[in-house]
Amino acid sequence: MKLKIALQRSGKLAEGSKELLRKCGIGFSHGGDKLRAEASDFPLEIFFLRDDDIPDYVADGVADIGIVGENVLAEDPKPIEVLERLGFGRCRLSIALPKAAEYAGLSDLSGMRIATSYPGILRSFLSNRDVLADIHEISGSVEIAPSIGLADAVCDLVSSGSTLFSNGLREVETVMSSEAVLIAQPAIDGEKAVLLDKLLFRIRSVIAASQNKYILLNAPLEKVDEISSILPGMKSPTVVPLAESGWVSIHSVISEHDFWEVVDSLKRAGAEGILVLSIDQMIR
Ligand code: PRP
Ligand code: ZN
Repeated sequence: MKLKIALQRSGKLAEGSKELLRKCGIGFSHGGDKLRAEASDFPLEIFFLRDDDIPDYVADGVADIGIVGENVLAEDPKPIEVLERLGFGRCRLSIALPKAAEYAGLSDLSGMRIATSYPGILRSFLSNRDVLADIHEISGSVEIAPSIGLADAVCDLVSSGSTLFSNGLREVETVMSSEAVLIAQPAIDGEKAVLLDKLLFRIRSVIAASQNKYILLNAPLEKVDEISSILPGMKSPTVVPLAESGWVSIHSVISEHDFWEVVDSLKRAGAEGILVLSIDQMIR
């Protein structure tokens, strides 16, 4: 019995998806086959597919689970379950115009031909804002549509912005934000559900680890209470004596999100020699 996972073959999510499995302790080799691989340390079979097809394969049960962008799910909703947001593959679906085109607001899009691979999302975005434009669905290389005269504007995924930039386009509206999510077929049960739980446990540990940092610092003994109140930790901070009397080392875990705020408060409270380390796995 093996769990089957569908990953994007190439594109924005491909590297992050493979890296997530590696961080979960799951290795695999392609063995010459570009479309599937067997994991070596987990009962997992991996399919490498076009991202747009992944929700279908999962809904049909060809794969049990998959990693796909929220943008793909929004364009083409399927009877699948979203189990976890994965925190990588962040991007946005945006409308962009040739650099030189004037743009004062949404109404300027009226009557334009907009090329996109996301006609459904774009159509509802525009109609919710009473903009009537001509949507041209194309399946790839959307960014070149204006320069070849196929469209006046595009609606495409942007992450670094370099694709738009190198095609002389500038972003004018954000239609949606997206990141990678883990999806599953709702009907998974029995032995497969047990495997899925095991994998999910590892994935959640990896995500928690990537959102937190391990912090160590030195402080005078009389500051321990004040500093501990800034550093809740997983239970409470670890406090160990230093060789120099009257001083301790305090260890804890802090969220990456408010990292700099916490470091500022720690310095104000008298912390010295602050070290911050990344965490590989975090089991709560
Ligand atoms: C997206 C999008 C752009 C590019 C933008 O493709 O279609 O071509 O990435 O990224 P940038 O802002 O960093 O230049 P993706 O790799 O997601 O594949 P797909 O859209 O063809 O599935
Ligand atoms: Zn795609």
